[in-house]
Amino acid sequence: MNTHIPVMLAEVLDHLAPRDGGIYLDGTFGGGGYARAILAAAACTLYAIDRDPEAIARGAALAAQNPGRLHLIEGSFGAMLPLLRKAGIDRLDGVVLDLGVSSFQIDSPARGFSFRADGPLDMRMGQSGPTAADLVNFLPEKDLADTLFELGEERRSRAIAKAIVVERAQAPIVTTSRLAGIIRAIVPPDRSGIDPATRSFQALRIRVNDELGEIERGLAQAAELLGPGGRLVVVAFHSLEDRLVKRFMADAAGRAPAPSRHDPAGLLARGTAQWRLLTAKPLRPTPAEEHANPRSRSARLRAMQRLGHMEAPA
Ligand SMILES: C[S@@+](CC[C@H](N)C(=O)[O-])C[C@H]1O[C@@H](n2cnc3c(N)ncnc32)[C@H](O)[C@@H]1O
Repeated sequence: MNTHIPVMLAEVLDHLAPRDGGIYLDGTFGGGGYARAILAAAACTLYAIDRDPEAIARGAALAAQNPGRLHLIEGSFGAMLPLLRKAGIDRLDGVVLDLGVSSFQIDSPARGFSFRADGPLDMRMGQSGPTAADLVNFLPEKDLADTLFELGEERRSRAIAKAIVVERAQAPIVTTSRLAGIIRAIVPPDRSGIDPATRSFQALRIRVNDELGEIERGLAQAAELLGPGGRLVVVAFHSLEDRLVKRFMADAAGRAPAPSRHDPAGLLARGTAQWRLLTAKPLRPTPAEEHANPRSRSARLRAMQRLGHMEAPA
């Protein structure tokens, strides 16, 4: 059966530490694996965001099992602040983000994320904005090459972009298998066994969904929403994501004070950090989890906590 196995679930719960009476946000509801466990761990309230309407629809059953405790919101976590304000929430005790796509999305050829099955070249997690086909058929060659290089770390980016431009002049590239074929003709398989199309597909997916912009907006807004004692837990799946999370948390915890307009030398910030890191180094899945769920292999969990005392539970 098509399903999504939650990644590093025990570690997520451990670092989020849900408590009775607390209000939490799962910014990436997906298959609801984290949400179900958070609701079971404490008598708390959970808001859950996903930009994929299919994920929100799947969550209705879990919401029905937890009357008044699970509130599903379709939207982007990069807009969590206005979405939660609209729901009357301006303080949270914890936020969790499990970045990237779900197995439901990857395994559904119709969503166009996978080079393993043929489908329309879509890759949108939500329903708005340009598709991967729009990028591949309309971006200028240099922009396409830069995207593959910067977001996919694809060394053959220029050659692939050139081949795409030649091919799209013959006929628009509208399927995953045609694009994968074009890439495979340029990039020889290496000894890692990773499909040569992997990096380019990752790059297009990140750009289609503005994933890095979403992370930046989401982290900043989560920090604004979390009250004293509140925790932010993020699971990242590739180095571009993890780098943003690492820098954000290090800045917040005062390791590298960000210069402020009012305090350009960072003197005031030094020693007055409002956050502490809960993970000095990123946590990785156990070998047993990696074995049981190969998709967990690249996961890295980082967490931080706002200093100060939590309000007593209601
Ligand atoms: C890895 S899955 C989450 C799985 C979930 N933790 C579970 O246990 O089932 C990621 C989900 O986040 C959603 N997502 C990714 N980026 C998003 C964003 N910027 N805003 C809202 N949802 C997003 C995707 O649509 C997908 O459903």
